[in-house]
Amino acid sequence: MLKTDIHFTGIKLIVADDCDEAGHIICEMFKEVIKNRRNALLGLATGSTPCGLYQNLAEGYAKGEIDFSEVRTINLDEYSGLCRTDKNSFGHFMDEQLFSRINIRPENIMLISGEKDPRTEIERYDSFLAENRTDIQILGLGENGHIGFNEPGDYFIAGTHEVELADDTIRANARFFSDISEVPRRAVTMGVNGILNAERIVLAAYGKKKADAVKRLLSDNRIYPELPCSILKAAHDVTVVIDRELYSCIGG
Ligand code: GLP
Repeated sequence: MLKTDIHFTGIKLIVADDCDEAGHIICEMFKEVIKNRRNALLGLATGSTPCGLYQNLAEGYAKGEIDFSEVRTINLDEYSGLCRTDKNSFGHFMDEQLFSRINIRPENIMLISGEKDPRTEIERYDSFLAENRTDIQILGLGENGHIGFNEPGDYFIAGTHEVELADDTIRANARFFSDISEVPRRAVTMGVNGILNAERIVLAAYGKKKADAVKRLLSDNRIYPELPCSILKAAHDVTVVIDRELYSCIGG
């Protein structure tokens, strides 16, 4: 690890050597939370960024270091129209990357269903979030600065909502699909209140493609909806974990 400091924005910054080390560092944070609270509520994300965390958590379980029997999870978002068995759904991604590899109880997993009426899912999510505080939330970062699927816009949306995906998000996520035409145009996402509901937030971003968004996040104290991740400056415990490659792109 190269550096840990408190950035002037109030955000803690960790520069890991690479995404493998970053996954290990973030896993230690999650382990500490689970050690202190057996029924911790973990806020989870999809995309390639959290894969290292999930790999380390699964290994921790295999070695008998982490017990997930009481742990609860809540995911950020899901594509509209995709069911959990669809290989491109975030539910399927979570099953493959983490849930099938640990001893979590199915009833403790909170996922948005892409095939149910979004209004029902939105209500179910917001009622749950009103009654439950997330202990630790992992976030990836869109190249355009999105978190979950809170896309750049004219205002922040507090609650869970259905969103029209930005063209650059569709392009960036097309790599997971056989053709860009298969990428759903809409998704349901936790809003910024749901994300800020977490006691502790870890935003991870690796590689030069994310450098612009991270640079904008750390360059000043402004919170503005054209850069959705800037809302994190309103949270009290945020750690940004980046790799050296990204750090060198932002002048580190
Ligand atoms: C999707 C998810 C985001 C995630 C982003 C980045 O758009 N909705 O939560 O942060 O992808 O993905 P990756 O980590 O693959 O760059």
